[in-house]
Amino acid sequence: MVQATPFLLVLFLALGAHGASVKKCSLIGRWVNDLGSNMTITTVNANGVFAGSYHTAVTATMNEIRLSPLQGALQRTNQKGQPTFGFTVNWSFSDSITVFTGQCFVDDDGKEILKTMWLLRSRVESIKNDWKATRVGINVFTRMQ
Ligand code: BTN
Repeated sequence: MVQATPFLLVLFLALGAHGASVKKCSLIGRWVNDLGSNMTITTVNANGVFAGSYHTAVTATMNEIRLSPLQGALQRTNQKGQPTFGFTVNWSFSDSITVFTGQCFVDDDGKEILKTMWLLRSRVESIKNDWKATRVGINVFTRMQ
């Protein structure tokens, strides 16, 4: 029994640490990215379909920035935590559309981080300009306090 106690303690701590890495990563809430853009995810349904709004800090246009709707899907096939997701922002102030894909991670401090890549498709006047219509980049989101 004396020898079993340290073993059980280590097992308990290991399970606790594992639990910490899988417990969070709910997309619901307010997020800010490395550009200063804000995103609010208001609903995630049982199938992982979610919706919210996006306020970008930057634009490729000369237009006045306005709040824009987003719709996405959270991968729910497994329950291993740190899920992948994708969402589309349909810009309400420009002719463009952006798709994001990413994964929700929990770091060593238990902080949630959304690592994403995006494609921003701008409208061009003719097919000759198609080659310059798509931008690509990464954004990292953290939860707003
Ligand atoms: C536009 O300029 O036509 C719409 C706004 C695009 C904003 C882009 S989307 C990818 C990147 N991440 C952001 O938070 N904003 C920019």
